[in-house]
Amino acid sequence: MTRSAPSLRIAVIGLGLIGGSICKAARTAGCVNHILGYDADPGVLRDALQAGVVDAVADSVPDAVGDADLVALAVPMLAVSDILREVGAGAGPSTVITDAGSVKQSVVEAGGDQLPDALRRRLVPGHPIAGSEQTGLEAARADLYRNARVILTPPEDVDADALERVESFWTALGARVETMDARHHDEVLALTSHLPHLLAYTLVDALAGQESNQEIFRYAAGGFRDFTRIASSDPLMWHDIFSANRDNVLRALDLFAGSLGNLRTAIETGDGTAMLGIFTRAKSARDHFLRMLEGRVWMDRRGEAGDTFVTEPGGSLRGEVRVPGDKSVSHRSIMLGSIAEGVTEVYGFLEGEDSLATLQAFRDMGVVIEGPSHGHVVVHGVGMQGLKAAPGPLYLGNSGTSMRLLAGLLAAQAFDTEMTGDASLSRRPMKRVTEPLARMGAKIETTEGGTPPLRVTGSRKLKGIRYEMPVASAQVKSALLLAGLYAEGETTVIEPAPTRDHTERMLSGLGYAVRRDDSAVSLAGGGRLAGTRIEVPADISSAAFFMVAASIAADSEIVLTHVGINPTRIGVINILRAMGGDIRLENERLAGGEPVADVRVRHAQLRGIEIAEDQVPLAIDEFPVLFVAAACASGETVLRGAEELRVKESDRIQVMADGLNILGVDAQPTPDGMRIRGGPIGGGEVHSHGDHRIAMAFAVAGLRATAPITIRDCANVATSFPGFIGLARGAGFRIHAEDKP
Ligand code: S3P
Repeated sequence: MTRSAPSLRIAVIGLGLIGGSICKAARTAGCVNHILGYDADPGVLRDALQAGVVDAVADSVPDAVGDADLVALAVPMLAVSDILREVGAGAGPSTVITDAGSVKQSVVEAGGDQLPDALRRRLVPGHPIAGSEQTGLEAARADLYRNARVILTPPEDVDADALERVESFWTALGARVETMDARHHDEVLALTSHLPHLLAYTLVDALAGQESNQEIFRYAAGGFRDFTRIASSDPLMWHDIFSANRDNVLRALDLFAGSLGNLRTAIETGDGTAMLGIFTRAKSARDHFLRMLEGRVWMDRRGEAGDTFVTEPGGSLRGEVRVPGDKSVSHRSIMLGSIAEGVTEVYGFLEGEDSLATLQAFRDMGVVIEGPSHGHVVVHGVGMQGLKAAPGPLYLGNSGTSMRLLAGLLAAQAFDTEMTGDASLSRRPMKRVTEPLARMGAKIETTEGGTPPLRVTGSRKLKGIRYEMPVASAQVKSALLLAGLYAEGETTVIEPAPTRDHTERMLSGLGYAVRRDDSAVSLAGGGRLAGTRIEVPADISSAAFFMVAASIAADSEIVLTHVGINPTRIGVINILRAMGGDIRLENERLAGGEPVADVRVRHAQLRGIEIAEDQVPLAIDEFPVLFVAAACASGETVLRGAEELRVKESDRIQVMADGLNILGVDAQPTPDGMRIRGGPIGGGEVHSHGDHRIAMAFAVAGLRATAPITIRDCANVATSFPGFIGLARGAGFRIHAEDKP
């Protein structure tokens, strides 16, 4: 909200970096018509007047504030109380007071001690989270508060007009204003600001006290400079801050001393895992924090950079493409590696946001995980009973697989857990896992509608069950098998149709006995997993976009390398071949328990078919792009028995039908599938509804469209296929990503 603040007369008490910047910023913003300054140092006052930072100066605080609409204090913390008394002596009937100190409860208390009640209610303490290690009027800048956060800590009975005046003043200076309870402010700032300053000061002081300090400073490089920049801050200001926020600072220091002690012990005893744990957790937390500052975290990603894809007509595909690692296998490598004993080395891990959400969840539960770096992840397994309660809810972003599989695993732990997700995940059905898990003895709460968040109660004794799945779901099967690892007796899951079997294969790879009899999978609880090496094949679900693309674009021939061709995943190849696709598997081999091949795809004239229903679970994620193949085929294609598509990241039947209709394709949704008559594809604007696979499917459609296609809301492509646009362009797609206009 930008609201132009009314023109004010302000009095600024204290003309250092903070006070001087308030004057300059207010002048630049044009929200004041008179600035009166006061500083205890007459030299500073003279300079401020000469430089035009203030319009006039006063000889004393009471003189300065008499005519002011707003008084801003920018003085050391320990001076605030006395100055407030003087402000009280000179304030007019409608004077409003704010301050800019880094500690807030002491200001609230000083207001109570020093001001008459009506004026106390017009004191709105504030803290601009801005500044620099430079000090004094000469360092003051007009843009210091632009985009900075300003935290206001008004008293409960604050005068509403006063709050409004202070809020609009800081807003006019370009700041983002928030309000908070003063005590809470002081606790948080003790950790995030006061502790780092304390550490910087003590580090430099400790080194400077060494006899060889000359030498130390000569060899101190960037790390020292980065870490200690803030030790150049104003000593008096910090003396006052530590004194005013004493108890919170001491608590923060104790917390830190505890962590330092842990690291010391790890170094002393050569405990490499503990050291790596501290460093990897810290690195991932800081990387996340930086992304947050740049506005690049999960949550609602609409309107992000690269959020819109635009295709130009035409293009053919050539060359070799290796798509990123398999999402399903990547999730499971972290989950099973974490509860194994010893180290699991993962290669080819998908660095997409879904699998990274799983990785972060296990870090939150105390597992030391190195990487990912170029797909390499090292999981230091904690054993079946080694997970620990996370400090807060596990946030799983867009990832249904993470949440459903974790429901099974966490139901068996000794601690409670809450799991949350983004808007799409928060709409997805969870009863399919929570109900059978409840039969095993688990206690998991959902919303009334059976959707997330999930609240999993720990310390439950689970017992094995025999469960016939009503829907063919690998996620449900896997959730039950993971719970079954901890259950008493045998857990058996019977599938109505084969679904992906990565969990079973990986369990076997980690030394756990899993039995398969026809459609039943069984395991007995109470065993152990042993860390191993896991090679993640390229994801056939990502390769599918290139398979359809090369099939429909004239003159195309590409080779997709190292693609996972697990028989439970190859529906897309079976269906495309049935439509006349020219797809050959070359160099078939086994990689870490999973079959892989290089897949050669040539352009072919596709024809419409009735898709065999037994292929649905084997191609469950590939239908959005298969619908595009159907739109390019001669005749009609019919899909039935796929109602499951309606509860994926979006309602994939409706969303694809809507988009295809916009492009002029005859596509009719049915409750459990779609009828599509092949024909020309036109241009237009379509919406992915935040569903990664819908976005990429329409990108493929662009190859055969007669006009540009604009695809909205594509940021979630990064959940399963980071780098999609680059790979697609390299192979011959005419596509680019744009920011939302
Ligand atoms: C997955 C199973 C499938 C699939 C999902 C990943 C898995 O879901 O759609 O993208 O990794 O187990 P369902 O098993 O619920 O069909």
